Amino acid sequence: MAVVAAPGLDQLRVGFVGAGRMAEALAQGFIRAGKVEAQHVLASAPSDRNLCRFRALGCQTTHSNQEVVQNCWLVFFATKPHVLPAVLAEVAPVVTTEHILVSVAAGISLSTLEELLPPATRVLRISPNLPCVVQEGAMVMARGRHTGNSDAELLQTLLEACGQCEEVPEAHVDIHTGLSGSGVAFVCAFSEALAEGAIKMGMPSGLAHRIAAQTLLGTGKLLLQKGQHPAQLRTDVCTPGGTTIYGLHALERGGLRAATMSAVEAATCRARELSGK
Ligand SMILES: NC(=O)c1ccc[n+]([C@@H]2O[C@H](COP(=O)([O-])OP(=O)(O)OC[C@H]3O[C@@H](n4cnc5c(N)ncnc54)[C@H](OP(=O)(O)O)[C@@H]3O)[C@@H](O)[C@H]2O)c1
Repeated sequence: MAVVAAPGLDQLRVGFVGAGRMAEALAQGFIRAGKVEAQHVLASAPSDRNLCRFRALGCQTTHSNQEVVQNCWLVFFATKPHVLPAVLAEVAPVVTTEHILVSVAAGISLSTLEELLPPATRVLRISPNLPCVVQEGAMVMARGRHTGNSDAELLQTLLEACGQCEEVPEAHVDIHTGLSGSGVAFVCAFSEALAEGAIKMGMPSGLAHRIAAQTLLGTGKLLLQKGQHPAQLRTDVCTPGGTTIYGLHALERGGLRAATMSAVEAATCRARELSGK
């Protein structure tokens, strides 16, 4: 079958097979950024549990996964990983070489996706994280053997509506899961501990948690906008004999850096284990 050139973003119909938290986060980002019109989004799931939120956004919904693939040439597969092989077997008869199929499922490799779909299907994997919900996701994507530059560029342009997205070799996807997918929980643990230090010193809880979260947000923005190494910014904040160096010494005694590196290592190893590598 001939490969047809992809239409522009204005004519884009985007499908979601699986309509849970991650699918909704991506759809919301595309619609809010004006990249896709809500009525051009079609989502499927077995129940109405999550589909009702898509309808509230103005999207079309169905219980038929095949209907999504028949009506959209760009389709995101956002079911839990263990469900995905059966879902791909179900839609495979209606997949053509015109489709661009994007898997969000953690731990399912590009070669597995290609094996489960017809020959020469254009597939990509993306690894998102939960801040996609507020358009501040840190995502990576990797492309399959039959996916061209224009397919990858189109997906990247679309995903920018949900945060930052960089194309990487597939080997980096599991590391991204350890750094950024699970990293959201590590950062939450740090934010909680930061706030609890202030609560211990007498600050009201709500205020301490708001200030801790804003401190993380502001520091992240500063690092990205200045493009500096974190060590540089840390040094800038550190007055000799001042408060920060006393605090940093306490963090070093507690082994914060070694514990954080071990956390990313452990989460990456677990992602690799779950991928069956
Ligand atoms: N959440 C994260 O932070 C995160 C980060 C990175 C990657 N991911 C990946 O994103 C994927 C989705 O995660 P999630 O948190 O969004 O899951 P979720 O909220 O549980 O959503 C799963 C969706 O799949 C639907 N589904 C179940 N069986 C189906 C079938 N046979 N055909 C079509 N749809 C079916 C569910 O239907 P119902 O609505 O009827 O229940 C639900 O809408 C996972 O593969 C995960 O690895 C998630």
